[in-house]
Amino acid sequence: MSEFWTGKTAVISGGSRGLGLHLAMELARQQSHLVLIGRDADNLRLQRDRLLQAGAMTVDSFACDAAEIDLQSGFRERLERSGVDLLVNAIGVSDRGMLDQLTREDLLNQFNTNVLVGWSVTKSCLVPVTQNQGCIVNIGSLAGLIGTPNMGGYCVTKFAWTALTRQWRMELKERGVHVLLVAPGPIARDDSDHRYDALLAQRGIQQKGASKPGGGAKLRRIDPVWLSQRILVAAAKRERELIVPWKARIVIGLFAFAPGLAEYLLRRSLHRD
Ligand SMILES: NC(=O)c1ccc[n+]([C@@H]2O[C@H](COP(=O)([O-])OP(=O)(O)OC[C@H]3O[C@@H](n4cnc5c(N)ncnc54)[C@H](OP(=O)(O)O)[C@@H]3O)[C@@H](O)[C@H]2O)c1
Repeated sequence: MSEFWTGKTAVISGGSRGLGLHLAMELARQQSHLVLIGRDADNLRLQRDRLLQAGAMTVDSFACDAAEIDLQSGFRERLERSGVDLLVNAIGVSDRGMLDQLTREDLLNQFNTNVLVGWSVTKSCLVPVTQNQGCIVNIGSLAGLIGTPNMGGYCVTKFAWTALTRQWRMELKERGVHVLLVAPGPIARDDSDHRYDALLAQRGIQQKGASKPGGGAKLRRIDPVWLSQRILVAAAKRERELIVPWKARIVIGLFAFAPGLAEYLLRRSLHRD
């Protein structure tokens, strides 16, 4: 097991569930100091105990809407004590529906969660991250690099998140802060097959593939434990972009050089069962 993050301080927004919690668990096994942000205070308390049992040196948690983390008493003081070696922005919401099936409000809500929340958290942590010349990990998605039908709002907002991540990387380089973009395909989880049922029913969405992980894209689901370990290695090595599976790079490259062919192949693969 790597010990790179032992004794270091990691802030994980969205660290109480899903991929953020898997990352917190890996960091706990490496005996890091953890600071978690989520909204559900009971769940944060539960996960705090699990993380301490798993080996975390300390776990502080802040229950609030992350867009307003700056207003949380004690947050800045906690980070200024140690500085921040690793900031993981793992908050994000997936969605279903083509662009003409969404309302303006649907798009605004997604833009808020998938772009503005992470921007606010990063701004709030910039001084302590700079203090330790730390690394910021922005969890994006393959959908932020390749358009996918059935997920119009998610793709648009995750593309914006990709742009924001690359912009932060350029702007923060001179301050010694590194920014890593992680762009995974669908991640395995217990609720994968039913996660969007209620949303699809509410919006009256019936098209094939909409209920499936990745909006029906033919991709193997990624093991979250393996992914978390890979992300922490990439952050330690200051890699720029971690795209999983790596084969997706071929499609991304094809979009740059032959977009017509790339769109044709993508549509064909989505409509094949
Ligand atoms: N799941 C996938 O297959 C997949 C694939 C590719 C990329 N991704 C990306 O990976 C990231 C994590 O996805 P996930 O599916 O693992 O997430 P998830 O299970 O839905 O968990 C989201 C986490 O964010 C917190 N959260 C959400 N909104 C918040 C807010 N406004 N303020 C504070 N905390 C908030 C939640 O805590 P509370 O419930 O307590 O608020 C929870 O800890 C996202 O950026 C997603 O786009 C996911």
